[in-house]
Amino acid sequence: MRMRTADPAATRLGQRDNQVSPITSSPTQTLAGAVRVPGDKSISHRALMLSASAVGETVISGLLEGADVRATGTALVALGAGISQSEDGTCRVLGRGVGGLHEPDTVLDLGNSGTGARLLAGLLATHPFHAMLTGDASLRNRPMGRVIAPLERMGARFAARDGGLLPMTIRGTADPVPVEYTLPVPSAQVKSAVLLAGLNTPGRTTVVEPARTRDHTERMLAAFGAELEIEPVEDGGQRVALTGQPELAGMRISVPADPSSAAFPTVAALIAPSGAVDLPGVGVNPLRTGLFETLSEMGAAISVTNAREEHGEPVADLSIRSSALSGVRVPAERAPRMIDEYPALAVAAAYAKGETRLEGLAELRVKESDRLTAIAEGLHRCGVRVDLGEDFLTIEGCGGPPPGPDAGDAVAARDDHRIAMAFLTLGVASQRPVTVDDGRMIETSFPGFTGLMTELGARIA
Ligand code: S3P
Repeated sequence: MRMRTADPAATRLGQRDNQVSPITSSPTQTLAGAVRVPGDKSISHRALMLSASAVGETVISGLLEGADVRATGTALVALGAGISQSEDGTCRVLGRGVGGLHEPDTVLDLGNSGTGARLLAGLLATHPFHAMLTGDASLRNRPMGRVIAPLERMGARFAARDGGLLPMTIRGTADPVPVEYTLPVPSAQVKSAVLLAGLNTPGRTTVVEPARTRDHTERMLAAFGAELEIEPVEDGGQRVALTGQPELAGMRISVPADPSSAAFPTVAALIAPSGAVDLPGVGVNPLRTGLFETLSEMGAAISVTNAREEHGEPVADLSIRSSALSGVRVPAERAPRMIDEYPALAVAAAYAKGETRLEGLAELRVKESDRLTAIAEGLHRCGVRVDLGEDFLTIEGCGGPPPGPDAGDAVAARDDHRIAMAFLTLGVASQRPVTVDDGRMIETSFPGFTGLMTELGARIA
């Protein structure tokens, strides 16, 4: 498989040389222009995994070319899928059919990607062979027990490190048992892992989610021809039942721009003294738009136009204008719909007038880094007052540009792409430049971030 890379440094990522790469963002007056942010990371992973499980060819346009998705593609090639990519980025996947993957003769390295590792564990749980999964230092520290528990109930066997950590070996089952599984934490990754295991399981595999999480897997399974029954349960949750062993037919997929990546130029445009940024073709799946709702409550001028559906996913064009923002309370119930957006929101909150209180954030502690601590420490370093709890964060907004770190001081990105991008966004409108200690991980989700922001007028180097 060949994957085009936007940034030559990207090819080095899997190997992680010891050279850290600090990046500095300096205050700017104007942020303006129209740019397309890269493809949605969640949808890109699913597009590759489901097309590898379909019969025939799937043609994917707009696929994210970040390191995370490349790692999933490389793993699927080792499992027997045919993947090629043309110069314009269009990706063609020759699928093996449901249950048709073969034993890999190498360790599958999912890099930095929790989605890649957990969804692939699901897919492999009902393929009767051994596979070994690993990842980078951050991924090797993230809990896999949450997928191991339901997948073992379906018949798969796992040998993981203590604490359910990677590396781990999966022995997929030849006789899978359909289960009804209620998610103990709101997690689209766990829901998707169970559904992907259910693909090669006879009968109906059911996931009950007490709080709804992103439904890209359900939407894409239906588009590929799988039979799904979805019904609401009490208190806003839902029950998803998948009929196993369908024949999925190769198709066309177009991946919308990632709203989680759009979050950074959006917040930058809001806080810049003069901001006028247009972001076309952004995914606006209602289970992903919590950030845009919250920013609107804070007083953000964000207009959503040309709403449409592309291959089963809602998409729209966003226009953002600089705005005076006010602090708000963001309730815990909203967290699943904006779980990746708290680093970007924290930047808007630091700039806003008054207090912003973010609640229900326990899951942030097990992301690519302990994001709750990373956000709190970074803001503190930038002169913003915060109060950090076990699962909440209160931010005392500066009512304008936050001070920024002392000269010579840097914000710790903690090897986390979204922490790095958030604080570079803060630097667009802080009083002093913001340096993050290492920007290499940005490539995992947003290849070309620096170039795109610079094109808009940001001063990031
Ligand atoms: C994702 C689900 C979320 C999110 C992650 C992508 C997905 O994780 O944070 O970036 O693609 O399903 P959880 O399932 O752990 O909430």
